Amino acid sequence: MSAALPMHPRLVSLEGGEGAGKSTALAAVRELLAARGHEVVQTREPGGTPLAERIRELLLARSAPGQDVAEPLHPQTELLLMFAARAQHVAEVVRPALERGAFVVSDRFTDSSYAYQGAGRGLDPRWIADLEQRTVGMRPGLTLLLDLDVRQGRARTSGRDLFPDRIESEQDEFFERVRRGFRQRAQAEPERFALIDAAQPPQAVGHDVAAAVAAWLDRQVQA
Ligand SMILES: Nc1ncnc2c1ncn2[C@@H]1O[C@H](COP(=O)(O)OP(=O)(O)OP(=O)(O)O)[C@@H](O)[C@H]1O
Ligand SMILES: [Mg+2]
Repeated sequence: MSAALPMHPRLVSLEGGEGAGKSTALAAVRELLAARGHEVVQTREPGGTPLAERIRELLLARSAPGQDVAEPLHPQTELLLMFAARAQHVAEVVRPALERGAFVVSDRFTDSSYAYQGAGRGLDPRWIADLEQRTVGMRPGLTLLLDLDVRQGRARTSGRDLFPDRIESEQDEFFERVRRGFRQRAQAEPERFALIDAAQPPQAVGHDVAAAVAAWLDRQVQA
């Protein structure tokens, strides 16, 4: 099953809950890779291509497009839209960049589906693994998990948006399940994950992130 998926030596993902500091930490990853002379493609999920960004809008909108009354988005629909966006993103952006030798740094990737749609929504992880195998076919070589208390993360983003998006509107219990889901994945694949204490000040988080990326690059040189 999914355990057999190869880890790509130039694919890095940033994962974690809402407001954990993924987008902030991305700069530290990009800078370290660029300083070592690598081409870096920065991208995000859901999204990363024009079509996938349109799917992102469908996923995050609080109400169905063009409608005043919110139509519930079923968990299965959510999962399939996430993977529709991901399939497009992998085919159009991730794979071509990796093939020409660039590093790809993605703000969220497949682990978010296991955490949100799997642990959070309760969908069968075997289904997610099957979609992953068919549409992605690889895992990042390094996944930086920014781990943060749910309430702290919420406090960081609360002033940001006037209207929270559909997923941000979920209750704390949902985000607790998501956090546990991420941590379980990190425990299950310690060779891929770097667990970052995201409660630290931004500079310390950036330092730990850069150190994890540097250690990962050095391990590859030795391998
Ligand atoms: N280590 C930190 N300590 C305190 N505040 C932080 C830290 N890192 C980021 N922030 C602030 O917290 C907010 C959320 O950070 P950021 O957007 O990087 O998180 P995110 O994980 O990308 O969030 P989202 O899930 O919403 O995309 C921003 O206002 C950012 O400036
Ligand atoms: Mg972000």
